[in-house]
Amino acid sequence: MAHTVLVTGAAGYIGSHTCVCLLEAGWRVIALDNFSNSSPAVLSRIEEITGRTLAMIEADVRDHAALSQLLQSEGIDAVVHFAGLKAVAESVSRPLEYFDNNVAGSLALLRALNLHGIRRLVFSSSATVYGEPQSVPVTETAPLSVTNPYGRSKLIIEQMLGDLAHADAEWRIATLRYFNPAGAHESGRLGEDPRGIPNNLMPYVAQVALGRRPCLSIFGNDYPTPDGTGLRDYIHVMDLARGHLAALNRLFRHSGCFTVNLGTGQGTSVLQAVQAFEAACGHPIARRFSSRRPGDVAACYASCEAAETLLDWRAEKNVAQMCVDQWRWQSLNPDGYRDCASASQQPVATPQS
Ligand code: NAD
Ligand code: UFG
Repeated sequence: MAHTVLVTGAAGYIGSHTCVCLLEAGWRVIALDNFSNSSPAVLSRIEEITGRTLAMIEADVRDHAALSQLLQSEGIDAVVHFAGLKAVAESVSRPLEYFDNNVAGSLALLRALNLHGIRRLVFSSSATVYGEPQSVPVTETAPLSVTNPYGRSKLIIEQMLGDLAHADAEWRIATLRYFNPAGAHESGRLGEDPRGIPNNLMPYVAQVALGRRPCLSIFGNDYPTPDGTGLRDYIHVMDLARGHLAALNRLFRHSGCFTVNLGTGQGTSVLQAVQAFEAACGHPIARRFSSRRPGDVAACYASCEAAETLLDWRAEKNVAQMCVDQWRWQSLNPDGYRDCASASQQPVATPQS
């Protein structure tokens, strides 16, 4: 019989692509989201791509009653926990919201899972926990440090999970440290839909390519990197999604906990990323150099050996493919999910239904 997985933050960027992967692999998916940073319209897109249905519950992970009811009634075998806030700059100005949503949200989820005897969890962590890496590629044993409340919230949750696993060996936890997710589903029907001004490079470049923003500011061209711009490890969101499936599968086969990087192992500079996007969209992207963004590091890319060994997983798509898919999504959906007629008609189940 198919396993049932609860996906928190399922309507978000990485969650929605992971739901596609899980449904295609035959899992029964219960999706939970409070839509604070996403649209219910995502649901019908996931169903359209996969030809499968999923239950979408509108709820906050901090809502104990809703969570309890759900865990009691749905026969859940495992949880993939994406729900949280993720904007670094916003976390600096509104730290309490980040600790409440991310840390208290994860705590509430863990308490509820403990109560209902559900002890398989995949957690969305981030390469941000490495702070300023002392060397690259970054391995999972590198020193951890954080420079902002968002990063601190991820590190606290990682530590909380470590303490929990130490206290109760029944827990099976996969902590996945993502590098820089980019791209979109190849259908052009699912993608990243940032609200307001995008924080991250790829969605910003896509909006400049579309003509929605006049110019990309490249934050610094005096880093100690080959072309002076920051080096990052961009990973296709569908590769990332497959990584979650691989992690979940491992939790059903092996006891214990593990932490792995999910990246490609390749560093790409901002200029190289912009050039790849220009090739994808077929026209130049206006850009200018500006000063470094506070808190940015020169280079951060993953060592991928642990994921290969433990999960038999490696990224398959390169930056050129990420740009092609991101451009397809952006050009077919210039207003993201906001121009989706079905958005307001989408039925949203409650835990009672
Ligand atoms: P996203 O904002 O697109 O998705 C997060 C989803 O969680 C949204 O749909 C939002 O509505 C929902 N949500 C937020 N708080 C919630 C709450 N309290 N209860 C229920 N739902 C809630 O973000 P994403 O890019 O898909 O990121 C998913 C996870 O991966 C996050 O935990 C993020 O910190 C982590 N991560 C993201 C990146 C990245 O660059 N995108 C990098 C590393 C780690
Ligand atoms: N950049 C620009 N201009 C922009 C946006 C970004 O030049 O408008 C540059 C940055 O300086 C950096 C690179 O593009 O060199 C990538 O920046 P992103 O903001 O896309 O990504 P970061 O590596 O700064 O951060 C991302 C996530 C974090 C996560 C981190 C590590 O936003 O949440 O990756 O995984 F913690």
